Amino acid sequence: MAGPYTECAPAAVGQKRQQFGSRFLSDPARVFHHNAWDNVEWSEEQAAAAERKVRENSTQRVCQEKQVDYEINAHKYWNDFYKIHENGFFKDRHWLFTEFPELAPGQSQDHLEDLPSDKRSEAPERRTSEDGPGLKIEQHKCSSNSLECETQTAPVGENVTQKFSHLEICADEFPGSSATYRILEVGCGVGNTVFPILQTNNDPGLFVYCCDFSSTAIELVQTNSAYDPCRCFAFVHDLCDEDQSYPVPTSSLDIIILIFVLSAVVPDKMQKAINRLSRLLKPGGMMLLRDYGRHDMAQLRFKKGQCLSENFYVRGDGTRVYFFTQDELDTLFTTAGLEKVQNLVDRRLQVNRGKQLTMYRVWIQCKYRKPLLSSAGSVAPAPDA
Ligand SMILES: C[S@@+](CC[C@H](N)C(=O)[O-])C[C@H]1O[C@@H](n2cnc3c(N)ncnc32)[C@H](O)[C@@H]1O
Repeated sequence: MAGPYTECAPAAVGQKRQQFGSRFLSDPARVFHHNAWDNVEWSEEQAAAAERKVRENSTQRVCQEKQVDYEINAHKYWNDFYKIHENGFFKDRHWLFTEFPELAPGQSQDHLEDLPSDKRSEAPERRTSEDGPGLKIEQHKCSSNSLECETQTAPVGENVTQKFSHLEICADEFPGSSATYRILEVGCGVGNTVFPILQTNNDPGLFVYCCDFSSTAIELVQTNSAYDPCRCFAFVHDLCDEDQSYPVPTSSLDIIILIFVLSAVVPDKMQKAINRLSRLLKPGGMMLLRDYGRHDMAQLRFKKGQCLSENFYVRGDGTRVYFFTQDELDTLFTTAGLEKVQNLVDRRLQVNRGKQLTMYRVWIQCKYRKPLLSSAGSVAPAPDA
């Protein structure tokens, strides 16, 4: 069932961290010699088998009543998820800086180079070690227009963060308003992207915003010992809620990052969510995304009765996932007024050497930029929500 393999130039362990796509399987007999192979080409038979599997698992749709429940209570299903897993489920992703150097421009990643590429994790997956959450209640209070802060004990969670997300944002009175480089992560979960950014990007002008509609996840971010309110602002926010504003003005962000979050949103709400985010970017600012691609192993594993709509499924725990094509993402971003910098598919063969299992993963990675100027010479207008 394995497809043809391209020639290889293996990434040496201990060498400078490579971008995805650096270890190619030339000899199928060596498949169990490493944990992962890059840019695996699928044969026609394999693609056809995947197509059949999807048709099969999509024949029976979840009933309307349950669909409404999964939509209305989406944040509750994710809260339950984080109550069970706390921050032991998703791995920190240091590969982020190789793929998205925009997250730490001009910073050395030397301290991250000793991790073999085998150990990189791209999709939300279970950790091998169950690290504790390292909860700490001491918080810092930042003045709203400065990066300076004083230490104090503050309550954590929804009450505090909700207050901010309903504020009318005034151009020079918002968290991190004096920062010179602003990054927002949407659907941040427990901070597996945010904390590596804060650790790696030492730019004194950096300020990182992160939000999630799971108040449980945000509480875990805020109470993590690495959470520094002088450099970071975590808040509860539903990216599909049109009535909820972000705590930053329009055209104020340099980077917006979406890691395996857009796939959790019901497809007919994706466009408006991306439009709203696009308005927050500065001209020249970038939206970065990594998410599930069509026919990823996770899609093929769904059973009949878990399909909500085409390529959109519900997991056993009530959380949902969509599987994108490159074209669909291109349409979402360009309709939001952004221009393509990168839109690639990462086909990877992961191997469980112990169990002699092969897993074909498909991820899509995108970078889209807000144009500096419209063709008329003025700053490009953002699309209506
Ligand atoms: C698969 S997890 C990924 C978490 C994190 N980005 C990571 O890579 O570890 C998806 C996250 O998106 C969040 N999410 C889903 N729908 C959302 C929405 N409408 N608004 C905000 N967050 C959402 C979930 O609570 C969850 O934390």
